[in-house]
Amino acid sequence: MAQNWNPASWKEREARHLPQYDDAAELAEAEATLAAYPPLVFAGEARALKHDLADVANGHAFLLQGGDCAESFAEFHPNNIRDTFRVLLQMAVVMTFASKRPVVKVGRMAGQFAKPRSSPTETIGDVTLPSYLGDNINGIEFDAASRRNDPQRMVRAYSQAAATLNLLRAFAGGGYANLRQVHQWTLDFMGRTPWTEKFSEMADRIGEALDFMEACGVDPGTVPQLQGTSFYTSHEALLLPYEQAMTRQDSLTGDWYATSAHMLWIGDRTRFPGSAHIEFARGIGNPLGMKCGPSLEPDALLALLDELNPSREAGRITLISRFGHDKVEEGLPKLVRAVKREGHPVVWSCDPMHGNVIKSDSGFKTRPFDRILREVKGFFAVHRAEGTHPGGIHIEMTGQDVTECVGGAVAITDDALGDRYHTHCDPRLNAEQSLELAFLLAEMLNSEMGEQQRPADAA
Ligand code: PEP
Ligand code: CO
Repeated sequence: MAQNWNPASWKEREARHLPQYDDAAELAEAEATLAAYPPLVFAGEARALKHDLADVANGHAFLLQGGDCAESFAEFHPNNIRDTFRVLLQMAVVMTFASKRPVVKVGRMAGQFAKPRSSPTETIGDVTLPSYLGDNINGIEFDAASRRNDPQRMVRAYSQAAATLNLLRAFAGGGYANLRQVHQWTLDFMGRTPWTEKFSEMADRIGEALDFMEACGVDPGTVPQLQGTSFYTSHEALLLPYEQAMTRQDSLTGDWYATSAHMLWIGDRTRFPGSAHIEFARGIGNPLGMKCGPSLEPDALLALLDELNPSREAGRITLISRFGHDKVEEGLPKLVRAVKREGHPVVWSCDPMHGNVIKSDSGFKTRPFDRILREVKGFFAVHRAEGTHPGGIHIEMTGQDVTECVGGAVAITDDALGDRYHTHCDPRLNAEQSLELAFLLAEMLNSEMGEQQRPADAA
């Protein structure tokens, strides 16, 4: 257990990107309400994810983490949850089929509300208001009442997270994720992309393999892995009053766990040495992610790793690099080398989204698909050169047919961005673009696994 730590010890450190609440009593009431509510996840589940991530750290599996940039109260609908879940399932199956390795599935879902913003205020015309910070803090509408930080929003976010998680658990374990359903996971509107046909062919092959296995006596009735799947949740541990209220001591081990999600990550803006967010994260037993952007130096990274994972437990830390398509090959190697040299067991994951945001000519914030792909390729190239495992991918995506990122096989053009631009924060890959990325990743994984096997085969 962490020394000199308690769920509130973060309050003695420097906290950036936390909202100011104007009524302390109102905040205390919301915190007390949350503290009395049931945990959303159980510590044993967080440990199970850590175990799965240890397999990724050791090079035997791959991590797929994805979902909204920011979940919202407005987009809360069972179909949205189902559609994002099934695109993640499709992606996982494509990647598993290619790599012949398990894919650990983690949603940016059921709690991903709070956002760090580059400016504390937003100005439209001659009106300046506090920036939108995420639906669990204030509202996106541009008026003073909506932009007020309201602690009761945390309670509403909890309820939405609970209902979302409940549906995800039902989908994952209740038959929807049965591999026999693989054909049904294709969304109606995905007929346009050539990758749908490829998916359908692959689904046929999986069906044949299942028929063969069933003839040999291996069927979903006897092998639970064919019936359902493990699906975990995650979000950025940004809103510390909420996280503190959801932190509980595990009755089995006595250790503290954040029970708001299985995995939490620390954002690029809050991972500085001495930060309140690092202090909070160090004391919880959950698997942790940490974003690594261009400003992170190797020594600072090593100091953070020593603080967050002093016992060097594999699966505890996932480092999520987010450099940008043109910086990854220059910036990432020195971090990878330092971590390898010091023997820290980490999962290396690639976020090809946050370093690749541009403003389009039509005025929308977007991400070109080819830059996203280029960053992923650069990430794989670095790990190949350093002899380390490119362990995962972290993406902002949705099952919805949105037009937020330009490019892809069914090319979203700059002019089309306005058609269905629904995100509450950053632009997401739509269902077609996500599936396309999965196939391109599958190719990279396939050759990576081939590389891995070659020396062993030769020996
Ligand atoms: C995010 O993942 O939504 C995010 C804000 O990323 P980063 O901390 O890497 O900027
Ligand atoms: Co984002």
